[in-house]
Amino acid sequence: PVVSTGELVTQAREARRAVLAFNVITLEHAEAVAAGAERAGAAAILQISENAVRFHGGDLSAVAAATSAVARASTARLALHLDHVVTPELVHEAHVRGFGSVMVDASRLSYGDNVKATADAVRWGHERGMWVEAELGRVGGKDGEPPLDAHAPGVRTDPAEAAAYVADTGVDALAVAVGSTHAMTERTATLDHTLIAALHTAVPVPLVLHGSSGVPDTELRAAVAAGMTKINVGTALNTAYTSAVRTFLASDPSTVDPRTYLTRAREAMTQTVTAFLTALAP
Ligand code: G3H
Ligand code: ZN
Repeated sequence: PVVSTGELVTQAREARRAVLAFNVITLEHAEAVAAGAERAGAAAILQISENAVRFHGGDLSAVAAATSAVARASTARLALHLDHVVTPELVHEAHVRGFGSVMVDASRLSYGDNVKATADAVRWGHERGMWVEAELGRVGGKDGEPPLDAHAPGVRTDPAEAAAYVADTGVDALAVAVGSTHAMTERTATLDHTLIAALHTAVPVPLVLHGSSGVPDTELRAAVAAGMTKINVGTALNTAYTSAVRTFLASDPSTVDPRTYLTRAREAMTQTVTAFLTALAP
């Protein structure tokens, strides 16, 4: 069934656990997240990024309808979330399509412009019962941008600034830069757990880790222990998908029916989802 992101995040925070959010690009991604959550006996968030909406011709309606239908039909508790929204109209579209939560990404703007853009979206969303996440600091590696130095000062989120940002914007959750980078295909990132703990103390709302595909399980568990509540995973699913397709096509170059290799791709993503959920199970 469909549940709200706010409910899953609040429950996780109260239990000092984390909820995993997986990025959906195709129907098979949504099916794999639902199947993985069922296998692990866990709840999860299905999130569609603005980037993925762009892939579907800029129209949220079809991919949102498919993802919603998968969530409704599943026995697992699944929430629907719009991720990395930079176009304000898409927040409105999310509401129309029955998505109860969004991540507003104004992290490329100056601090003042980020606060203004985010506060506007929060005001609009809260009037309609939406849950809004936003980012302060910069988690690099988005949209194929050159990687940022995740250790450079000014890239990571400052606790005092984070506290002011949450107060000034009214966001429900805060994505922070603590050492992870988007689009990593190896799990080699190390996180700043002292900074996570300081942010957890300074900020009254749940913290969100982006770029979690590149973070090893032990680092993820330590991050959750230090106060991280929502863990976003995207690239790991695509790595599993593509390597399964590559292996199958190499072994059977004559196949033309996409169901032959998409079955493998979906199963590989399901196993990845199950592995992340099991690694962070209470
Ligand atoms: O918002 C999505 C996540 O931050 C996913 O990052 O693709 O590096 O796992 P990732
Ligand atoms: Zn992200």
